[in-house]
Amino acid sequence: MPSHKRLVTLSLVSLLLFPSLCFYWTIYDITSGGINRWNGTPPIPANSFDYQPNSESSSSSATTEALMDFGGFDNETGRSLDGRFIVPNLIHYIRFNKTTFTFVDYVCLRSAYIQQKPERIYLHTNVDESNFTGLYWKRIRSEPDLYGRIVLQPIELPSEIFNQPLSDGWRLFHGSDIARIRTMMKYGGIYLDNDVYVVQNLDKYRKYEIAMGWDEGQFLGSQVIVAHRNARFLPLWLDTYRQYHADLWYYNAGERPTTEILHKQPELIHRVKWRFGVHMLMQELYDSMDWPDWQQNQDTIHLLINHRSYLDPHFKEYSDFNERNIRHYPYMFGELARLVMPDRSPATSTTSPSSISDSVLLDWETNLMILDDGEQVRPPDPSED
Ligand SMILES: *[C@@H]1O[C@H](CO)[C@@H](O)[C@H](O)[C@H]1NC(C)=O
Ligand SMILES: *[C@@H]1O[C@H](CO)[C@@H](O)[C@H](O)[C@H]1NC(C)=O
Ligand SMILES: *[C@@H]1O[C@H](CO)[C@@H](O)[C@H](O)[C@H]1NC(C)=O
Repeated sequence: MPSHKRLVTLSLVSLLLFPSLCFYWTIYDITSGGINRWNGTPPIPANSFDYQPNSESSSSSATTEALMDFGGFDNETGRSLDGRFIVPNLIHYIRFNKTTFTFVDYVCLRSAYIQQKPERIYLHTNVDESNFTGLYWKRIRSEPDLYGRIVLQPIELPSEIFNQPLSDGWRLFHGSDIARIRTMMKYGGIYLDNDVYVVQNLDKYRKYEIAMGWDEGQFLGSQVIVAHRNARFLPLWLDTYRQYHADLWYYNAGERPTTEILHKQPELIHRVKWRFGVHMLMQELYDSMDWPDWQQNQDTIHLLINHRSYLDPHFKEYSDFNERNIRHYPYMFGELARLVMPDRSPATSTTSPSSISDSVLLDWETNLMILDDGEQVRPPDPSED
């Protein structure tokens, strides 16, 4: 009998013998929610930052007016407003044409949720929620507090910019580059690429007009943006698309705003040289078993997940991560991921056998088991043995 099958059988037997473990199912029961998350923006908690998106802001608000003008803003010291941060505690992800949450998406979302405790997590997407699929979307929905902060915000995939059609091949990527600038101009907050892992709370950047990763001798990194919606850099950045280079991957997203704007006016941003981890960290993440002081030295880490196939020497052994194979994945990304996984193991009594969650993954909605390779199978008939 293959070993995974033996494990599965063992766990099913333990489930039958120890029905108390069944509360595992109820804890992670799917919350029905009931509201239409496409249209109904949940109320903002009373104690929250007085945030309003541009389109809805009451222009008479003194607070809003005070923030309209960043002329002479000090990019080193930042500014508070009556002792409060000026950037709202909102996280923004952009998900064009993505119906499935990967394990890495899930890890990154949870890291942001745990470290930042955002009021809202906006998923700006052109996919209807009814078309969201996969185990990790179910995992997200199964956590009421996390799911309750998520707002699905419909957004169209851009097809052109300043009357120039977007590149066919890179439309999803260039579209996301443009959409993140517009999203920040509308709401402000914290924009994260879907593969950005949050190591520490980012509140220390919420006092700046805009903070971005920009290493010495490099172009600006657009994977992490902490900004007020009126940051002066944002419209200038968008304006660089008047000369859009459809054939160049990173021209408008990074090169042109760096050379045309920031080389001349570095005071427009709070420069974060490496704490945002948007430089090359492939070796640290996927080829080292030790990365001294990473938690002290990084605030975020760009996981470079789409570049693993050609840069990660162990890619073939772990071409896809999931909550099973991450348990024995030996390189640093494994540690990062395990740190933010929810504690799913039941509070077992000392007489309990090894918990179910250690041996097999069960999708509690479909009752299917998930194997290492992500394949979903029906549990074997226990009488089979
Ligand atoms: C995005 O998804 C839609 C609907 O599935 C599809 O028609 C379109 O071609 C996709 N766009 C890109 C750029 O892949
Ligand atoms: C779901 O996706 C399919 C295929 O892309 C599309 O035809 C359908 O309209 C989508 N449904 C919703 C509700 O968005
Ligand atoms: C602030 O702006 C100045 C230029 O006025 C620049 O030299 C400096 O690097 C900036 N500091 C930070 C932290 O971005």
